[in-house]
Amino acid sequence: MSFEYRNGSLYCESVPLAEIAASAGTPCYVYSTAGILSRFLEYDSSFDANQPHTVCYAVKANSNLSVLRLLAQAGAGFDIVSAGELYRVLRAGGDPSQVVFSGVGKTFAEIDYALKSGIHSFNCESETEIEWISECATRQGKEARIALRVNPDVDAATHPYISTGLKENKFGIDIALAEEAYRKANALPGLIVDSVSCHIGSQILNPTSMLEAVDRVLALIERLRDQGVRITHVDLGGGLGIAYKPNDATPSIREYIGQLNARLAGRNLHVAVEPGRSLVAESGVLLSKVILHKHNGSKLFTVIDAAMNDLMRPALYQAHHEIQPVHQHQGRDTVTADIVGPVCESGDFLAKDRQMPSVEIGELLAIRDAGAYGFVMSSNYNSRPRAAEVLVDGSSWKIVRERETFEDLIQNEL
Ligand code: LLP
Repeated sequence: MSFEYRNGSLYCESVPLAEIAASAGTPCYVYSTAGILSRFLEYDSSFDANQPHTVCYAVKANSNLSVLRLLAQAGAGFDIVSAGELYRVLRAGGDPSQVVFSGVGKTFAEIDYALKSGIHSFNCESETEIEWISECATRQGKEARIALRVNPDVDAATHPYISTGLKENKFGIDIALAEEAYRKANALPGLIVDSVSCHIGSQILNPTSMLEAVDRVLALIERLRDQGVRITHVDLGGGLGIAYKPNDATPSIREYIGQLNARLAGRNLHVAVEPGRSLVAESGVLLSKVILHKHNGSKLFTVIDAAMNDLMRPALYQAHHEIQPVHQHQGRDTVTADIVGPVCESGDFLAKDRQMPSVEIGELLAIRDAGAYGFVMSSNYNSRPRAAEVLVDGSSWKIVRERETFEDLIQNEL
């Protein structure tokens, strides 16, 4: 466990969170090296020994350079969705030949940069994009490897904002039209069309829908091969969920990859997966301090120094994050409170009607499972400097991103 109580005090690995808060201040993101690496190793080691594979970490989940560097050193590939993410991966020492570029709106300039950097392949989502990659590759005198991202029309049964595999979503190429799209792509110069990719959504708690999508993709690969299209790679995306609530049933990484092994055996395919959340979410907390309490009518509001600008998920997806006092005390009352930030919006809450041990002004709270889609989605709304980020490794820790200053807030303005 990356985070656990020892003698009534919450630790990250061997470091008390209170020590970090005292020195780095709050709000502050804290990540566990051991937690992130153990998740990566679980993915990597769950593939059958003779199954060629790459675990491409979805950079969007947490793109701190130190997190990327950890994963690069462990041998991860990367799934990127912008030139900025590619820049980060390269700066962190990631291997460009293990990078896949996803996303529905790559610009010509982004394609150019990625090709020059020598990425492994592009997951393409439209015919226009494929034409641009062909043109760009021809100009550079190179061959670009591409996959077509197909939309398998499978319901991921997750929050509508993070569901991507239905016909009504903007993502991918309709699987029913894929064969025609492969024929067209194969006729263009400068392309190696050797892969199929797919990603149906995020925070998927029941992997049945993911496996349904895999089956549809593998059936497509058979049809393509029958038609003479040489498919050697498949990219099955990310999406595996985590237990934000203590009683959520978590799909195990090992079981899910086991299911992939069974389906891929004997097919002669290199497989990539693109996990984000399941690699890093549980290995991060957002540390915050209680500012004050207030009552409005019958409601109790606990106002803390972290807000929707720091952790957007509750406001945007009504997401649940467990919130724990950093110090446990015996005999506290249990209260029902809204845990809110200081931002001037009623949508600014970290928890609503939450049963919590009553906490005091100045106390530290840990908002759990904030390692994915936490800092990366934060903003300066209400002119709040963005939080610091800390990486713990055993009994040592360091600030891997300084808290922003007021000067940082205005540095690009005239
Ligand atoms: N690959 C592609 C093409 C994706 O679009 C995504 C996530 C992933 C991989 C990684 O998925 P994961 O393993 O993390 O589920 N901000 C939202 C999540 C958005 C996910 C977007 N795409 C949240 O906070 O829940």
